[in-house]
Amino acid sequence: MELFETKEKIDSYIKLCKQEGKVVGFVPTMGALHDGHLSLVKQAKKCCDVVAVSIFVNPTQFNDPKDLERYPRTLENDVKLLESVGCDIVFAPTVKEIYPEPDTRQFNFGYIGDIMEGPKRPGHFNGVAQVVSRLFDIVKPDKAFFGMKDFQQIAIIRSMVSQLGYKIEIVSCPIIRESDGLAMSSRNRLLTPEH
Ligand code: PAF
Repeated sequence: MELFETKEKIDSYIKLCKQEGKVVGFVPTMGALHDGHLSLVKQAKKCCDVVAVSIFVNPTQFNDPKDLERYPRTLENDVKLLESVGCDIVFAPTVKEIYPEPDTRQFNFGYIGDIMEGPKRPGHFNGVAQVVSRLFDIVKPDKAFFGMKDFQQIAIIRSMVSQLGYKIEIVSCPIIRESDGLAMSSRNRLLTPEH
């Protein structure tokens, strides 16, 4: 498994894969990986020749600085987990690498951005679209995999893909749950039993 921290390094590697005609699958994550993420990697492995996973806690999608600060970061363990499921490439950039200058793009998702999580987390979906489009530009995947736990996020990403004209297949994958039925999420580790 290859671990890259810079755009230049991952770019050269992806270029080689493309020259060899390989289908590149991509799973964007913010780390603190669990079986839900690993199921996306396993799904990607079934239909792609090379699977890349990004681990990047994206500041532009947090509207609460405290939430950003306490978001779990477990890079060492994440890398081990990814290796165990046969991931080929891990991309773990710094904030400066992804945002050498601030991203001022404002997307318009219309109705799908204005309902449900939209009004509760102002700017969140815009930040998701910013980072996912930047990651798509770097990784240049043929297919990208997202969990249906974040159903509205998938709709937003499909809209962003169509607005920006990417030729990337967005594959939505089933929710993976804990034994008590709770959908797996990196934030679950911040919950107490009462929560
Ligand atoms: O679902 C997530 O973990 C994030 O929103 C994503 C898609 C990796 C963008 O930062």
